[in-house]
Amino acid sequence: MTGRFISFEGIDGAGKSTHIQAVADWFRARGADVQLSREPGGTPLAETLRDIVLSQPMGSLTEVLLMFAGRRDHVETIIKPALAAGRTLLCDRFTDASFAYQGGGRGLPLAVLEPLADWVQEGTEPELTLWFDLPAGQAAARRVGREVGSREADRIEQLDLEFFERVRAGYAARAAKAPGRIVRIDASGTVEQVGAQVLAVLSARYPAC
Ligand SMILES: Nc1ncnc2c1ncn2[C@@H]1O[C@H](COP(=O)(O)OP(=O)(O)O)[C@@H](O)[C@H]1O
Ligand SMILES: [Mg+2]
Repeated sequence: MTGRFISFEGIDGAGKSTHIQAVADWFRARGADVQLSREPGGTPLAETLRDIVLSQPMGSLTEVLLMFAGRRDHVETIIKPALAAGRTLLCDRFTDASFAYQGGGRGLPLAVLEPLADWVQEGTEPELTLWFDLPAGQAAARRVGREVGSREADRIEQLDLEFFERVRAGYAARAAKAPGRIVRIDASGTVEQVGAQVLAVLSARYPAC
């Protein structure tokens, strides 16, 4: 049995968490056994690494190595078993985020990122990636709304608009290389407008569902 692996990507505040639930509901309504996960994190070890990465100062190469260390644990202990059990695994961020944040944002070269991705994933790749694309300024405004009364922004969320525009460009470059897998969602509209685009993609991809 082989499940479905679908990832959700985009800069902080773009709408991933808002829409992942609706996608889960869509698949559940069609009888799928849905499992949600997230990166960085998704396992006890990877969540510990996430806390370290998001709170402690470190160089870009250290950051990406910790991200991929967590990803390896996540792939081995959560993603592969879920797919082997035939589940629909919805993941809030995966490897594209490393290419966007540590590649586009931090400036690490593809010569560093591509071998890490190959070693860590060993062919485990999302079949569909929904990329929520939003200008950095609009995403920052949405984050302000979300963070009122909740936790403080973490080490990466505190970076400036130029950083997030580079991350956004990193996602665009990644999407250009994988046009069949990565689908751009214009995340600038209302929740309803964005949700309609997401459902249109699902209906087109999974007509028999
Ligand atoms: N289309 C939208 N229009 C306005 N606000 C939105 C929209 N989508 C999400 N939000 C709000 O913006 C904030 C960030 O959305 P969220 O889904 O948490 O983004 P992400 O998970 O990509 O960081 C949340 O407060 C959410 O309620
Ligand atoms: Mg989120």
